[in-house]
Amino acid sequence: MREIARTAGTPTFVYSSATLGGHFDRLKEAFAPLDPLLCYSVKSCANLSVLRTLAARGAGMDVVSIGELQRAVEAGVPASHCVYAGVGKRDDEIIAALEAGIGLLNIESEAEFENVSRLAGQLRISVRCALRINPDVDPKTHRYTSTGKKETKFGVDLERARRFFQKYGQDAFAKLEGLHLHIGSPIYTVEPYVEALTKTCALIDELAMDGVTIRSIDLGGGFGADYESDQSPSAMDYADAILPIVLPLKQRGVQFFLEPGRSIAANAGVLLLSVLYTKQSGEKRFAICDAGMNALLRPSHYGSFHFVWPVQPSNGLVPPTRSSTLAMPGLLAQDIVGPLCESGDFLALDRSLPPLSRGDLLAVFTAGAYGMSMASRYNSSPLPAEVLVTGGRVALIRERETVEDLMEHERHVTVLL
Ligand code: LLP
Repeated sequence: MREIARTAGTPTFVYSSATLGGHFDRLKEAFAPLDPLLCYSVKSCANLSVLRTLAARGAGMDVVSIGELQRAVEAGVPASHCVYAGVGKRDDEIIAALEAGIGLLNIESEAEFENVSRLAGQLRISVRCALRINPDVDPKTHRYTSTGKKETKFGVDLERARRFFQKYGQDAFAKLEGLHLHIGSPIYTVEPYVEALTKTCALIDELAMDGVTIRSIDLGGGFGADYESDQSPSAMDYADAILPIVLPLKQRGVQFFLEPGRSIAANAGVLLLSVLYTKQSGEKRFAICDAGMNALLRPSHYGSFHFVWPVQPSNGLVPPTRSSTLAMPGLLAQDIVGPLCESGDFLALDRSLPPLSRGDLLAVFTAGAYGMSMASRYNSSPLPAEVLVTGGRVALIRERETVEDLMEHERHVTVLL
């Protein structure tokens, strides 16, 4: 980490190819009886080199915009191995996905289906479509990332789903043949999956009574990652709960897709920062770093916990666990904050850490997913660099932005009206 900081500077996201690949392989193994297409969720960490690492292992991609589809294709994944979700697909995005030969379009509403049908008909391109259903299940996660409850904007409720197939099931070009679910993220117990899939199977039986055959099921993502020690079920735990429910469908020839993001990328990455200053205000101690919510929004936006530890602790202490309140001697309660102009600009609050000083390097753990992909340029902060470690090879996979980059699109002013 010291060498990476010396050569790439900070703030920098550092990813491990071995960890990315290891998580992918474990999911593949756990769900092998379903032989699913494992579509890595590009939104979690979209760097081309990360996508290439997973593409090399046979990953498909879960995309939510035409930009993500372009990234997937650029990384070597054929569009036919990509599934495309999202409540607000623009016409130009639908057209581009159809022309690219998208593997599966996940449809979120009647209005969207009618638009896809119209565009596919005009282009005379057939496309496989899955209806995203909203099973009204509580995934017991942050309300911002809870997507399978009725009151959220996602999918079509189960009552309407049956009518949906009756109304649109015979479309000439938009071939409605599958079901899609993604009920939230992260989901730390298996029960919400069990509940959602049990309801899905009941719907499939009802559809069968209407003469509709479901040919594919996209199970979505949402598997947890270990932000704190052993907090998350393993890939095998999720599979053990899910497989018994859906294996009978596999035996009937149904094709499966999975869309894991966080469970592959989160703890394949750390955010490497430098301490700029330390300061005290009353009893409170702060370590002010060279990035905060601009690089990693999750603590500020969702109140998420990320373990933070110095690269070289001054007292040599190595924490026994990732717990936030360590009863170890020589630690001081500190807030790890960024340089931005808001009190919401923090990475960790009231954390027991070894004494810190100017120039110390800090690693913010489990930052590989929804770190760089949610980073912003607030306060004219150039985006961090990204580095990928593959065995002994350390490669800069995204240059640090410069302030020049930030101003580039503003230099030329065009009078419009
Ligand atoms: N499929 C769909 C349709 C999704 O919307 C998502 C995530 C995934 C798959 C991947 O979920 P995962 O396996 O990564 O949990 N920014 C938030 C997470 C938002 C997730 C949005 N959708 C965070 O930082 O926690």
